[in-house]
Order: sequence, then structure tokens, then C-alpha cells
Amino acid sequence: MANLSAPEMFDNQAVTKNWKMLSAWMPVPELGVLPVNSFLLRGREALLVDTGLGMLADDFLERLESEIDLEDLKWIWLSHMDADHIGNLRSLLNAAPNARVLTNFLGMGKLNLAGFDVSRVHLIDQAGVPDIAGHNLAPVRPPYYDAPETIGFFDRDDGVFFAADSFGALLPNVVQDLASVSDADLADGLSRWSAIDAPWLSLVDKGAFSRNLAGLKRLDPAIMVSSHLPVARHGISEMTEIITKAYCGDAAIVADPLSVDHLLRSFAA
Ligand SMILES: [Fe+2]
Ligand SMILES: [Fe+2]
Repeated sequence: MANLSAPEMFDNQAVTKNWKMLSAWMPVPELGVLPVNSFLLRGREALLVDTGLGMLADDFLERLESEIDLEDLKWIWLSHMDADHIGNLRSLLNAAPNARVLTNFLGMGKLNLAGFDVSRVHLIDQAGVPDIAGHNLAPVRPPYYDAPETIGFFDRDDGVFFAADSFGALLPNVVQDLASVSDADLADGLSRWSAIDAPWLSLVDKGAFSRNLAGLKRLDPAIMVSSHLPVARHGISEMTEIITKAYCGDAAIVADPLSVDHLLRSFAA
């Protein structure tokens, strides 16, 4: 099972020439291990996507500072406001005085409720996404998610699709390379994580969901990065098939045991 007893950070990895991944992994008792990734677009206007685990603050900031001077950090893209995505936001806003936060209206509202200074927020849904270091990041809602403010993006310049929490997978062990995960472990890990993180998926319209997943295949990004999966350089189509099979087939394999429908059926039994 998991070769990890506590959350830990691992070496930064190159995603493309411009993108780097800051990688942590955390043990999930009885279920395996889960990556928790942040991403850095280096350049004259550096952008950080999500801020890692607060319990690993010192290590996270050290690994970030090994890549850039925090004075040069101009943007912090928050995919959503879950603790594993904003863990070091407060420290970063202090340590990176020129950084502005990219989120949408609901995301800003949640930050405000959590006591953050929202004067440094740039609203994606009103002002759009600024051109960042020559990259045009097209905002996109990932195929599934666990918080309604979730916003991913497609970087057309580098062909990188950021999927936020979707396509996360619980895996048996920490791995550097997704290619070293067996097909069976990947299918199992994707299904189990999606059922935990987005239990409503078993109730969605199968046609609409499968069309959205097929859209990702047509978009055909060169690379997909998820907050909770090693970098995917191949097999994106196969992963969309796994999720499609789990939720959209005639014999969908994942159901929510806490749905109202399930409760009613248990009364009738
Ligand atoms: Fe989340
Ligand atoms: Fe997450």
C-alpha cells in the first residue's frame, strides 16, 4: 500500500520548457496515496497555480523560491478554495508583495469569508485573464469538480490543460511518472477518487457528461495536469474513457450509496 506515512514534498518537475510542477503527496488511510500539485509558469510575469498544503509551508516556499524570486511572482491562479489548494495563500501574499490573485466572483466571496484581503483579486469572469508572460490561458470549467468556483485553463501555447481536481487518482504508491502506473491501478484510482471528490457524478445526465468528456478528447491537449495526478503526457483519451465507463455506460460502475434514491431503495428492501 502507501509508501508514505505523512505528507511530503518531492522534487520539482518540468512539465514543459515554461511550466514546472511542485509536487506533494499525502497518504490517505486505507486507500493509498494522493498527489497534491501546484504549477508554476515561469517568465517575466510568473504565475503560480494553487498554493499547496499548509502543513508543508516551509518546504513549499523553499521549493518555489528555488525556481523564482518571490518579488517576481505576479499572479496566483486559484482553481478553487479547498484547503489543499489555498494552503499557503496567506504566507504567499505576504512573501510575494507584487502577486495578484486570479479567481472568479464566487471564489473571491469565499476568500472574503475566510478573512483574506480581496483587494488583490483580479476577477477572471469580469476582467478576463490577462496575457501572462506571452501565454493566453483560456479559462475552462473542468469536466467535474468538487466546488462550484472551480476554474481550470487551457494554455494553447504549450498545449497544457489544467484540470484542477478532475482526473485525480488514488494510487498505491508514490510515482514520478504516470507511465509506471498499471492500467488497472489507474482505472481503479480514477474511479475511486472521483467517487469521493464528486459523489454527484453518478446522478448526472449520462449523455451530457459523456459529451463533455468527449469534448476533452477533441481538444486533444498535448499534456494534462491535474491537482491530484502525476503529469499526463499520454493516455488522456484513455482516462476520459475510464471516467465515461464509470459513470455513463449502461452498466455504470460507480454509484453514490448516500443518494436519496439509494436510501429509498433500502427502505423498500
Ligand atoms: Fe477540491
Ligand atoms: Fe483538491
